[in-house]
Amino acid sequence: MSQGPIGIFDSGYGGLTVLKKIVETLPEYDFLYLGDNARSPYGVRSFETIYQYTLQCVHYLFGQGCHLIILACNTASAKALRNIQQLDLPKIDPTKRVLGVIRPTVEVIGNYSKTGHVGILGTTGTISSESYVMEIHKLFPDIEVFQEACPMWTPLVENGELEGAGAAYFVEKNLTHLFAQSDDIDTILLGCTHYPLLLPIIRLFIPNGIKVIAQGDIVAESLKDYLSRHPEIDVRCRKAACLDFHTTGDAQDFDRYGSFFFERALNSQKVEINP
Ligand code: DGL
Repeated sequence: MSQGPIGIFDSGYGGLTVLKKIVETLPEYDFLYLGDNARSPYGVRSFETIYQYTLQCVHYLFGQGCHLIILACNTASAKALRNIQQLDLPKIDPTKRVLGVIRPTVEVIGNYSKTGHVGILGTTGTISSESYVMEIHKLFPDIEVFQEACPMWTPLVENGELEGAGAAYFVEKNLTHLFAQSDDIDTILLGCTHYPLLLPIIRLFIPNGIKVIAQGDIVAESLKDYLSRHPEIDVRCRKAACLDFHTTGDAQDFDRYGSFFFERALNSQKVEINP
């Protein structure tokens, strides 16, 4: 039986915050990261475009030998995952798997809040999909969910604007909108894998005592659990501790900016994704 790396996909650099935690948790596995930097951000694009772009990237990663792909992107998980799982995978190869980041996050979010008021920050695509609201209410019907779309945050992060007056302006503005919806929010989920890079500035505008949750550890634990429950998939994941990074954008840029996210030196290659 052929073995391959686990594919980790994001529209750009954000998924590296998730991959970092996954590699810490599952260091023996091979991973192939694909950032669609040339077409990032996805968050402001239409449903159809996000679905088509994500599907093209999934085809690419399958073509590279992956049997399991994690969409380390909330926007793709919200807008494309269901169609890919239900319509495309049965035709492409029913033995392969594509998983997202929303479900594993929702499964644990109820453990954090005492007031039952949870804030979600995400891209316009993720927030308008209402995926978090629907999924949280399925598992935790008593939790009240308050959402805020932060369309400027991903471009800030993709361009390395992690501090300073520009970043502070947009972070404060969106957090003010979020807190205006409820005084009782005690837990805020960073529902976009780019946002952990803005944590230092986010904390400046969040009152003490409010928990801010990033998804990396949650997704890493969930993947570990998934592999232990699915030996038929695990056996198809190569374990030679190899990491590869592919980008549709400029490889030098990816290595320079991506190393902030991954916190170690990167050596990526530029690739073409066939439409
Ligand atoms: N990092 C992505 C997410 O988690 C997407 C950001 C974007 O492309 O807009 O939603």
